[in-house]
This record gives sequence, C-alpha cells and structure tokens, in this order.
Amino acid sequence: MTRLTRADLDALPNYVPGRSVADLVRELGIAEAVKLASNEVPYGPLPGVVEAVTEAVRAVHRYPDMGVTELRDRIGAWLGVDPARVVTGCGSVALAEILVKATCLPGDEVVYSWRSFEAYPIIAAGAGATSVRVPNTAAHGHDLTAIAEAITDRTRLVFVCNPNNPTGTFLRKAELDRFLAEVPSDVLVVLDEAYREFVTDETVPDGLAVYGDRPNVVVLRTMSKAWGLAGLRMGYLVAQPEVAAAVRKVVTPFSTSLVAQAAALAALDAEEEVRRRCALVVAERDRVTEALRKLAVDVPDSQANFVWLPLGEKTAAFASACENRGVIVRAFHPEGARVTIGTPEENDLFLQAAEAALA
Ligand SMILES: Cc1ncc(COP(=O)(O)O)c(C=O)c1O
Repeated sequence: MTRLTRADLDALPNYVPGRSVADLVRELGIAEAVKLASNEVPYGPLPGVVEAVTEAVRAVHRYPDMGVTELRDRIGAWLGVDPARVVTGCGSVALAEILVKATCLPGDEVVYSWRSFEAYPIIAAGAGATSVRVPNTAAHGHDLTAIAEAITDRTRLVFVCNPNNPTGTFLRKAELDRFLAEVPSDVLVVLDEAYREFVTDETVPDGLAVYGDRPNVVVLRTMSKAWGLAGLRMGYLVAQPEVAAAVRKVVTPFSTSLVAQAAALAALDAEEEVRRRCALVVAERDRVTEALRKLAVDVPDSQANFVWLPLGEKTAAFASACENRGVIVRAFHPEGARVTIGTPEENDLFLQAAEAALA
C-alpha cells in the first residue's frame, strides 16, 4: 500500500490513557471499581463550575473569544504577571506541544529526564525533533547535572517536570538555581508544574515566583489536577512576552473552548476550596506512603497527588493483581507503578489490594 504518513511515527509509542472503570467492571463482573491511574482529584467539580458551564453552553453556537481576554486578564492579575505573558491551551499537554513547535525544527533536540511525563517523547517526535532522554537518578528523580551535560548546539528545549510525573520526586531551589545558571541562554527551559498545588515542601520553589522573570524560562501549569477541570481541557503557561507572542502564533485557533474559559473563571473563584482539597490529598499521600513502606515498598517521597512504587519486573503482576481487586493503577513497565491519591475510602481499597498483591 502507498505510504501516506511519516514512517518514523511507526516507532512512536501510543499515549496510554488510564484504563476505564466501566471496562473493568464489565470484564470482572464486579459491582464497582476505582481508578487511581490518571492523577485526577476525586472530589468532583469545584463549586460554581457546573453552573458556569451550564450557562456557557447556551452560547456554544458562537466561537469562543480567541484572545481568551477575560481569563488571561484574570490569570495575570491572580499571578501578578502581565496578561500578555499568559497563553492558555487545550490542556497543558497541548501547550507543551506548541512550545516544541515554536522552538524546534526537524532534527533539533528536546532534552528531558526519563522516566517523566509520557507525552514528552510523543510531542518531540510529532515535531520531528530528536528526543534526548537522560536517565533518572537511583532515587527516581531528575539528574540535573546529566541533563545540563546533555545539552548540545542542537538543543532548543528542555522539559523539567517538578514534581516529576510519574515518580513524584522533586527538585529543590539550590539544584534548580545551579542548573538554570548552566543552561545556555538560547535554550528554552519549560518548568512543567502540573502538580504545583500539591507541593508542601518549602524548599521546592514555585517556578513562576522564583524563575518566571528569566528570559529562557516558561512555566507550564494545568487546571486538570487540583482545579478539577481535566475533562474540559484547560492549561496555561507564563513566558516572557516575546516567547508568549511566538507561541500564540502557532497555537491552534480557538483551542481554549468557550465552556473551558467559563469553567476556569468559575474555578478561580474557588481557590480556598482548592487549597482545602489539596490538604486532604496531601494528608492521604502521607498516609498511603507510610502504609506502602510498611509493606516493604521503597516509595520515594512525593510532592504530587500520586505515589510511585518502584517494583521493577514485578510491576505488571502488581498492576493486574490490583485490577483483579477492582483498583486500576498505572503501570510503567518495567520500572514501576504510579498510584493516584483518591478519597480515603479509595486509598483503603488500594492498600488492601496492594497488601494482597505484594503478599
Ligand atoms: C507533568 C504533566 N504535565 C502536563 C500534563 C498535562 O495535563 P493537561 O493536558 O490535562 O493539562 C500532565 C498530565 O498528566 C502531567 O502529568
């Protein structure tokens, strides 16, 4: 058959979404299952979001505001930055893609730690860029020294995921200071802070507050996790005005939907509730970590809303044993399993499944 698409895409892994609860319930014939595989927060939409969405839906025969003016103004005021530095997108994953598109020509290099967010290799390959993966440290975190050493003349962008998905590990200010001082000024550093709201360790810097004014730093955030809008797709970045303007040129027109804009505005009114929910997640994160360590799993400290079980070759068996008990976790073969922090009841179910799976 005549080839119509790029041959190099054949080698690309598919993005694997978490398994669906409905599928598992059907397959096992059980009453219910829980999904702790996609790093969502389990407490439903924030107050005011359903109403805002319902109202916005009345106008969906119209295009959204392409400039996303009201929301960018709001985010700018909230974060204390010029709205011209803010770009929104259809999830922060779309903005990560646009950043690579705005910086890389085919053959240019994108450097990132591995394992990290599984979209990075897909995004780099999609742009025809070359992925340079730097192995995680023995403690499952970014090896910033090796990442700095991996930068070449072809490198255009470095993803730094803090806290890191899927390991939950985190970088402290002193290490990031050193790293950023070493990165050449013509390489864009994207600080992916999808899980920033769950950070409680004060030594982990807020990328925007601490590094936001550096010309080659972009801070990427999402409203999918702590802000409960995963299904609506809303992410934003803060960059220097020139970088933001370039990104805006290649962003898919109208990709921040009218409904997502309205939902984000309503969600931003509920910041106190976000903090309350994050505190619940953090308390459960500590409890789950401790319980897993009692089961002899060497769980690294997490600053995100998930924990990492470095089970190596046992990962697949562990994930399927959990599934057989109605708990969907996320396996990354052959390194480990990532488990999202759910409600206390969901976490109890997981811990029971984990105990049985590890017995
Ligand atoms: C590190 C990281 N960055 C970005 C994203 C993308 O989130 P979204 O596209 O839902 O905003 C995720 C989602 O899992 C993530 O883990």
